[in-house]
Amino acid sequence: MALTDSSTKAIPIARRVDRFSYAIRNIVAEARRVEAAGTTVRYLNIGDPVAFGFQTPPALIAAVERAMRDGHNGYGPSAGLAAAREAVAAEYTSRGFPVAASRVFITAGTSEAIDLALSAIVDEGGEVLVPMPTYPLYTAVLAKLGARAVFYRTDAARGWAPDVDHLRSLVTPATQALVIIDPNNPTGASYSAATRRALLDVADHFGLVILADEVYGDLGHEGAVAPLGSLDPDAAIISFSSLSKAYLAPGWRTGWMGVGRSPRLDDVVAAIGKLADARLCSTVPMQHAVKEALGGDRSHQIAFRAALKERGVITAAHLGSIPGVSCVAPAAGFYAMPKVELPPGRTDEDYVLALLAATGVLCVYGSGFNMPAAAGFLRVVFLASPDELRDIYTLISDFTREFLRA
Ligand SMILES: Cc1ncc(COP(=O)(O)O)c(C=O)c1O
Repeated sequence: MALTDSSTKAIPIARRVDRFSYAIRNIVAEARRVEAAGTTVRYLNIGDPVAFGFQTPPALIAAVERAMRDGHNGYGPSAGLAAAREAVAAEYTSRGFPVAASRVFITAGTSEAIDLALSAIVDEGGEVLVPMPTYPLYTAVLAKLGARAVFYRTDAARGWAPDVDHLRSLVTPATQALVIIDPNNPTGASYSAATRRALLDVADHFGLVILADEVYGDLGHEGAVAPLGSLDPDAAIISFSSLSKAYLAPGWRTGWMGVGRSPRLDDVVAAIGKLADARLCSTVPMQHAVKEALGGDRSHQIAFRAALKERGVITAAHLGSIPGVSCVAPAAGFYAMPKVELPPGRTDEDYVLALLAATGVLCVYGSGFNMPAAAGFLRVVFLASPDELRDIYTLISDFTREFLRA
């Protein structure tokens, strides 16, 4: 017999879970309700090119298939297969950021690389400078570590460039790292050389390690963007990327980090290695595709970049022509962050939920990326076909005119 009513009480959850939310996926629950009520939902909330019909290059699939058939289904080395690490090192080095294979880790996507690097560097109570708007994984991992994200502004009025003076003003003795997401999700920005140099200068001045999230590096609409480390190969930089976006295989959960040659990072490499040991390894068959991806034919990227450029132009033109809406033209990747001039008292979440209910179009509200709720930002993913995007933007336009009139 149960001793008390404690046998029926819900198991309590840890307090750290309350410290973050993941709007990109949370909002899907609302979409499911709308769908159940009979409205077709158009999911513009998750940046998965495969979900919109872009195909994983067949040579990469063949490499994974071959690996499985050849029996590469056991655990691998925790830092990654030698061939994959060498391919990543060669890729960074050939693009002007010299990285040794011994300083490459193959991970479960960029996501795990970010988690491992932050876990290796940031103490409980530590502070990490993170762009605002941000990619929510940073806030989530820092909440888990009991550390604090400190948000530096990026400015829509200046093409979403970081406000370097604001960034500088936020550094304290507790600051342990600077996160730079370039090209950027959610804004679609790609930073100028001058901005990149200014960011490097701040990090250098304060002795901070830079965590460079470069998962969209190959998806600049005018061509691939060089890694930040190519501007200063001796800076303390760790770069992150993956097969998810530019190689169209997000479900494989295969990514990497490359740690720059600065001896200031030697202990960090050892610490990341220690943490990586504990999770055994990342998916082994998929690691066999890394060499194929980075060393093989990349012609799919030419077509993908052209498709993204076309969609980006359509997005900025259509959204920017809606009265009360402005939109910085995206320069890379597949996101844009338009702004709606909301009536007083309304939030970005009000707008996004009303848009969903009225039209079935699902975007993510800017406050999900830590923007002020009254500022009226939302993120759109523009991976749908040009015709579909035009239809969607017409729905958004008609809805917004009504919403702002009310
Ligand atoms: C800026 C940024 N970093 C990291 C990730 C995670 O990517 P991955 O699939 O490589 O874990 C994403 C995914 O959307 C992203 O936009």
